[in-house]
Amino acid sequence: MSNLRVLISSGPTREPLDPVRFLSNYSTGFMGAQLAAEALRRGHRVTVVSGPSIEPLPAKARVIPVEQAREMEQAMRRQAPRADAVIMAAAVADFMPTRRQATKLRRGSGLRLQFTATPDIIARLPKRRGQIRVGFALETGQVIARAARKLRGKRLDLLLAQEAGLSRGPFGRERVRAWLLERDGTVTALGRQPKRRIASALLDKTESLWYGQLRPTASRKRA
Ligand code: CTP
Repeated sequence: MSNLRVLISSGPTREPLDPVRFLSNYSTGFMGAQLAAEALRRGHRVTVVSGPSIEPLPAKARVIPVEQAREMEQAMRRQAPRADAVIMAAAVADFMPTRRQATKLRRGSGLRLQFTATPDIIARLPKRRGQIRVGFALETGQVIARAARKLRGKRLDLLLAQEAGLSRGPFGRERVRAWLLERDGTVTALGRQPKRRIASALLDKTESLWYGQLRPTASRKRA
């Protein structure tokens, strides 16, 4: 079996408001780091496009640091044509300030800001033939139904759905309750597990999709 070239996006993005402030989320990059470590253990080649993360990434991964959603999109577009599998684990900020203020915003009497949606990176990423696309979804209700819509809408092969609780959701080193959704409608409940085990289940399925699509060609060649 050949090794895969795995491209992982990880961590949060930061969308600047002014020279000293940004809009972001609670992502720590731990899931991306677990995915990178597990993929390396399996002998794959790993590139991580990483937002500002507080978790260390494995030394053997090639790391491309980015900050904003737009920069993450540019980096993913550059790297994706060489990837066999793209795993979009980053918690991309959904909004960015419509205008970045050139000077520091003053406290004065409150603040009104206008936001614009960030580009949907995975949905707009050109797809190489045979490439396996994996996305994540973090939902606060109707987890499976919403995740299934995302899988179809973003034309993914696999989607890892997680449930966000009332506090900080599944960020950091917490165990998470997750489900794995496939294009054919299969839903596998993974239960509440450490992220290392979730990463391993996700890579098992990614590998089986990749190697599964190679099999018919191999048997045709032998015939
Ligand atoms: N994603 C992305 N680009 C964005 C936002 C999200 O590529 N601007 C990716 C995430 O990395 C994840 C998947 O899309 O793999 C789903 O992310 P999520 O935030 O749940 O989806 P959204 O499309 O932003 O939908 P929602 O309105 O529910 O936040």
